Amino acid sequence: MSRGIVCLQAGQCGNQMGTAFWTTISDEHGINPNGEYTGHDENQKERIGVYYTQSSEGRFVPRSVMLDLETGVLDNIKAGPLGQLFRPENFVCGQSGAGNNWAKGHYTEGAELIDSVLDRVRHEAEACDVLQGFQVSHSLGGGTGSGLGTLLVSKIREDYPDRMLVTYSVMPSPKVSDTVVEPYNCTLSIHQLIENADAVFSIDNEALYNICTNTLKAPASDNNYENLNKLVASVMSGVTCSLRFPGQLNADLRKLAVNLIPFPRLHFFVVGYAPLSGPGSQVYKSLSVPEITSQMFESRNMMADCKPHEGRYLTAAAYFRGKVSTEEVEDEMRKIQDKNASQFVTGTFIGNSTAIQEMFRRVGDQFSVMFKRKAFLHWYTGEGMDEMEFHEAESNMQDLIQEYTQYQDATAGDDQDDVGEYREEAYDDELPEEEPVE
Ligand code: GTP
Ligand code: MG
Repeated sequence: MSRGIVCLQAGQCGNQMGTAFWTTISDEHGINPNGEYTGHDENQKERIGVYYTQSSEGRFVPRSVMLDLETGVLDNIKAGPLGQLFRPENFVCGQSGAGNNWAKGHYTEGAELIDSVLDRVRHEAEACDVLQGFQVSHSLGGGTGSGLGTLLVSKIREDYPDRMLVTYSVMPSPKVSDTVVEPYNCTLSIHQLIENADAVFSIDNEALYNICTNTLKAPASDNNYENLNKLVASVMSGVTCSLRFPGQLNADLRKLAVNLIPFPRLHFFVVGYAPLSGPGSQVYKSLSVPEITSQMFESRNMMADCKPHEGRYLTAAAYFRGKVSTEEVEDEMRKIQDKNASQFVTGTFIGNSTAIQEMFRRVGDQFSVMFKRKAFLHWYTGEGMDEMEFHEAESNMQDLIQEYTQYQDATAGDDQDDVGEYREEAYDDELPEEEPVE
């Protein structure tokens, strides 16, 4: 009996990162682009029902709904390598576009599409043996993924109040996109995600850009979305591996949330990944578990532009993947160096760190510069939005920053406080088995 997750990918970014995610996990589960299982390892199939539905002909179909307010990106997916993998009815498309305007995505144009999206969602939810929850991927800087994406989040919260709802949300950066209103769209979205999402994996284009340029040394002209999305797919695969493969730790969305969220509003995670490899770098250098661990905790391996060592961890989880045990790793790494890259140990890190406030501050400052002059506001009020919603969004995000600051400034003597004990207890119950995860 599988505990299914229904995935939604909204807008250009949501669909492009979503496709990168499905490419990666289909490979890991041995599913070819026709939905046929071609793998050789029972572990690949044991929990395949979490993300895939098996059709009556035995094909594995991603449990995913793809939506956008314009046709281009969805047409590319249909024409691309995974075009045959997805359920055709699950592409839901408008014609109007939201033109970088959150109000169009959330209120006007988006509101016209929402019922057809929710129809597909209901259909997928009902087809699950047991529904554990929802996963939404989207950007917060545009109009569709952010506006319509957060409308969906609030509708799903209403319709399925007791199911888990997590998002993979891409924060805008001027280094990657030069659309001026992105801080508005982003802040309005965060306002929604604070209230309606259980957990948010914050993926920050500023950090992705820095990783590409500084760590992977990919030439600046190569900082296209494909490179960024490879990083996104690595962390999404890493973060979900505890849900997709047999094991004990954080085996479903609720356990993951219980372990990582000590206070309900502080549910925005920083994710890290190691080792990072780029087009020019060696596939994977031989790294020991301690080396992987220290890399995972470094700011430059984080997918959010912040410095966790200057903040405090409320909670953290580290996942290791690979076919070698902790003790054997150094020996084994030498032996398997020439083999398949997927046999090397990789690590994914999920941190609930007060340092993430740096990212909210960056967006908040950009928001305030424009909002104090009411610049570009007419695009939003023109869609019927009230200026009050901007004030509310701004102060909700400021409050969130305050809450993080409060925990960050807690005195050093409080090291053994409730949060630390809580975390250890939560982990004690669910220590991972020593056997390989994959
Ligand atoms: P509209 O086109 O405005 O209707 O909404 P949309 O949701 O389609 O917009 P889009 O997803 O293009 O949002 C723009 C923001 O997303 C900007 O911050 C871009 O830098 C970022 N973005 C767009 N595509 C990608 C992508 O494939 N990967 C990443 N990492 N960021 C992207
Ligand atoms: Mg778009």
